[in-house]
Amino acid sequence: MSRPPERRRGEPTLTRALLGWLILPLVVALAVSAYSTYRNANQLAQTERDLVLEGITDDLKEYVSSTLESRQPLDPGALTISLLIGDARDRRYFAVYDGSGRLLAGDRRLRRLADDRIDAPRTVYDDLVLDGRTVRRAVLRDNEDMPGFEIQVAETTVRRERLALHLLRGVLVPQAIVILLSIPLIWFGISRGLHPLELLRRRISGRSAQDLDAIPVDHTPRELLPVVSALNDLLLRFKAVQQEQRRFIADAAHQIKTPLAVLTAEIDLALSDKGCTCAQPTYARLQAAVSRLTHLVGQLLALAHSESDADRAHAPFDLAEVARDVTGEFLPAAARKRIDLGFEGPEHAIPVRGNVVLVREAMKNLVDNALKFAPEGGTVTASVRSGPPVFAVADSGPGIPDAELPLIFQRFHRAADSNTTEGSGLGLAIVQEVARKHGAVVTAGRSALGGALFEFRFEDEAVSQP
Ligand SMILES: Nc1ncnc2c1ncn2[C@@H]1O[C@H](COP(=O)(O)OP(=O)(O)OP(=O)(O)O)[C@@H](O)[C@H]1O
Ligand SMILES: [Mg+2]
Repeated sequence: MSRPPERRRGEPTLTRALLGWLILPLVVALAVSAYSTYRNANQLAQTERDLVLEGITDDLKEYVSSTLESRQPLDPGALTISLLIGDARDRRYFAVYDGSGRLLAGDRRLRRLADDRIDAPRTVYDDLVLDGRTVRRAVLRDNEDMPGFEIQVAETTVRRERLALHLLRGVLVPQAIVILLSIPLIWFGISRGLHPLELLRRRISGRSAQDLDAIPVDHTPRELLPVVSALNDLLLRFKAVQQEQRRFIADAAHQIKTPLAVLTAEIDLALSDKGCTCAQPTYARLQAAVSRLTHLVGQLLALAHSESDADRAHAPFDLAEVARDVTGEFLPAAARKRIDLGFEGPEHAIPVRGNVVLVREAMKNLVDNALKFAPEGGTVTASVRSGPPVFAVADSGPGIPDAELPLIFQRFHRAADSNTTEGSGLGLAIVQEVARKHGAVVTAGRSALGGALFEFRFEDEAVSQP
C-alpha cells in the first residue's frame, strides 16, 4: 500500500481551511459581543456610580439645609463635608449655590447650571473636564426647603472605568475560553467529517497496479461522487488501452511462433544433412538461438494470457493432482541432469477454484527454475498441502540472495550470476500474475535443501474453498 505523500509545512489542507472558515465567524461574533458588552458594562457602571453621586448630593443638601437652619456659616472644611465627598480612588469636588446664584462653598469651577438645564426635583448629570481629567457631575436644584439652592457634586471616573472593565472581563473571558475550547472539538468534528476522503484514499492506494476495476461508489458521500466517477472513467479508458496492448503482444507472439517453427524444422533438416559438415557448427548455434527465441516467445504468450481478462473463468480442480501431473512432466528433464525430482502430497484431493491452464503454467515455471538452478545430481522437491492450499518447490541450488528477493518477480530480471543458465526472466512474472488472478501469494525463501523455496499459497477463501 502506498503511503500518503509527506505533508509540507504551510501546504493548504482542507482541515485548516474548514477550521479557518468556522473559527472566523466565531471570532467576529466574539468581537460583536465584546463591543456590546463594553457598551452595556459602561452603562451599568455609569448608572451604579450615578446613584452613589445622587446619594452624596442628597446628604450634602441635608447638611447644608440643617446648617443654614441653625444659622451657622457653611464651612467648606467641615468634617461632615470632607467625609461626604472623600473617596480613596476618585477625586471629588462640590459646590453649593444659594437662591441668588452666589457660591456659598466649594469649587468655583463647578458653575451653576442654566435654568433650562434643571429638571427639578430630579438630579441632572453631565460630564466636564477639571484639572485635565474627565469628571461626572450631579446637580440638584432645591425648590422646597431652600428654593433656588443648588448642590453640585462631581467625581473623577476611576471607579466607573474599573467597574466597567470588571463587568467586561466577567463576560468576555468565559466567552473566549469557550471559543478556545471549541477549537479542538471543531477540529475533531472536521476530521470525522473528512473521514470518507481518507477511506477513499485507502481504497485507491490499497490496490495493485494491475487492478484497474472501477472504484466502488457505495458509501461514497455525494460530494465525492464526481471525483470518483471521473477517476473510474479514467480507469476504464486506461484498462481499454492496456487490454489492447496485451492483445497486440499475444497476437505478435502467436504470429512469430509459426516462422520460428519453420526455422527450427529447416535447421533440423540442415543438421541432418551429413554431406555438408562444414556448416554444422553454424547450424548448431542457429538451433540454440532459435530455441531461446522460441522459449521467449512462449513465455511472452504465457504472460499475455495470464494478464488477459478473457481468462477469468474459474472452475474447481484438484491442486494435488495437477501438481503431481506437472512434476511428472519434468521427470525426463530432471533425469538428464541426474536431479532427484520428488513429489510430496496427500492422497486426498485439495480442491481449489481457478484457471487450471494458468495454474499449470505457474507450476511449470517454478519447477523449471528449480531444475535449472539446482546443480547436476542435486535435489528438487515439489509438494502440496492443504489449509490453506499451497504448492511449493524446494531445490538444492544456490538459493536467492536477500538483495535479489525484491527484484526476481520483475519482468526480464535475471540475477547477474544466472547468466550462465538459459532464460528470459519472465517466468516468475508469469507466476505472480497467475497468483494475483487467484487471490494467491507467491513467496520466495530458503529451503531445507539449502537452495530456494518458492510457495504459491491460495489465500482467497472463495478460491480455496469451492
Ligand atoms: N530456484 C531458483 N534458484 C535460484 N535462483 C532463482 C530460482 N528461481 C528464480 N531464480 C532467480 O530469479 C530470476 C528470475 O526467474 P524467472 O523464472 O523469472 O526467469 P528465468 O528463469 O531466468 O527465465 P524464464 O523463466 O523466463 O525462462 C532468475 O534469473 C534467477 O536469478
Ligand atoms: Mg524461470
